[in-house]
Amino acid sequence: MSAIQISSDLRDLEDATLEGFFVGWPNPPSAATLRRLICESDIRFFAIDSDTGQCVAYLTGLTDNVLFSYLSSLEVLPDYQGRGIGQELVQRFLETTTHVYATDLVCDPEVQPFYQRCGLIPYHAMVMRRRDCL
Ligand SMILES: CC(C)(COP(=O)(O)OP(=O)(O)OC[C@H]1O[C@@H](n2cnc3c(N)ncnc32)[C@H](O)[C@@H]1OP(=O)(O)O)[C@@H](O)C(=O)NCCC(=O)NCCS
Repeated sequence: MSAIQISSDLRDLEDATLEGFFVGWPNPPSAATLRRLICESDIRFFAIDSDTGQCVAYLTGLTDNVLFSYLSSLEVLPDYQGRGIGQELVQRFLETTTHVYATDLVCDPEVQPFYQRCGLIPYHAMVMRRRDCL
């Protein structure tokens, strides 16, 4: 099994490929858009397969560093799921945000058990989606 390196240092992302994400999206954002998403986020962690140089998972988050933090995106490539990478990225995010009151996220019901394993609890949410921004 290949070695996975987890990092938040954008220099480690410079040469990494960012293909294959947004599985199931009808109109997936490009690799360039994903790179921008990761770079512009307050908090980011990503996993690189050091054998292939491929980015195989990423997590992004936002915070005001006072009360709130928001886990805005998380995805592990299908071939790399079930190896503890997702949980490790969430753990890193939670360790980075222990100084704020709330950590929130929105997810589909089928992913709730995963986040519960990571220590979060089900709650309520309101959202707006602007598909023309994609
Ligand atoms: C959900 C996702 C991030 C999980 O990442 P992963 O690396 O496969 O998960 P891990 O290997 O770290 O799993 C950690 C634990 O959660 C469990 N788990 C993982 N996905 C699960 C799911 N969908 N439902 C229930 N449990 C799940 C694992 O079995 C493991 O349990 P264990 O500790 O008892 O062995 C990944 O499957 C993914 O990217 N899915 C598609 C995109 C997505 O849904 N992202 C979330 C958007 S909010």
